Amino acid sequence: MSDALNELREYLTRHHGGDGDDAATRALDGHARNHDDVFRRFWSEHTGAQLKADGRVVDLGCGPGLFLRDLSLTRPDLELVGVEAAPYMLERACDEDYDFNIRVADLNDPPAELFDMASIDVALANRLFHELHQPLVLLQRLYDWLKPGGVLILVDMVRQPLGSFLTHKFGRDRLDEPLDARAMKALFEDYFEHNRYHDYDLLALLVMTGYEVLAEESIRSGRAVQIAARKPAG
Ligand SMILES: C[S@@+](CC[C@H](N)C(=O)[O-])C[C@H]1O[C@@H](n2cnc3c(N)ncnc32)[C@H](O)[C@@H]1O
Repeated sequence: MSDALNELREYLTRHHGGDGDDAATRALDGHARNHDDVFRRFWSEHTGAQLKADGRVVDLGCGPGLFLRDLSLTRPDLELVGVEAAPYMLERACDEDYDFNIRVADLNDPPAELFDMASIDVALANRLFHELHQPLVLLQRLYDWLKPGGVLILVDMVRQPLGSFLTHKFGRDRLDEPLDARAMKALFEDYFEHNRYHDYDLLALLVMTGYEVLAEESIRSGRAVQIAARKPAG
């Protein structure tokens, strides 16, 4: 395994709280919440026209692959591919009984040959971007991999004021009891790692790499955003 993939795996384990198995369990438990009605309506609205029979859907940073599993049940006509790097997510991926496969790659710098040029109809990046060291290289590669008119659905946490983050985490807006310094260190690391971009930063990255933004919706009381963007049809 390359040094870069090893380093990435160490980073991801740390980012995911130090316990990969636990992180995979949380991804499985949070699946319904992270692919709720608000997400599914947005997905259908912006991918429906693009998703013809035999189309290819790629889930970037697919975790244990539950989104692909669900899609394989309703759209067995599609080719479904995930991309993932964390071993604990790959171990829990439920691809044995379902019709999709997962490719192992570092999406910070994915090899150009990971997909053929103009071979993807729809790509999803659900809470991947804040985990990337930078998302520009992936956006450029994806632009080449998408068919003209192909769509990217990008969902991620966005920057929020520290006060709102703390109120949400503690469930109250006064912090007058003694706090544990180690727990607060972890909490602030969590804040900075999950609060990387404003919604307008994500939109700027998309526009600067050639995508047309189709729609943007603020979700989760402003703590996250879902964006549909398209490679221009030609
Ligand atoms: C917050 S999880 C979301 C998983 C899934 N998309 C979902 O919505 O349940 C982000 C996923 O992206 C993966 N990931 C983060 N950085 C990555 C990278 N550079 N290359 C490949 N996968 C990556 C993580 O391992 C993790 O499984």
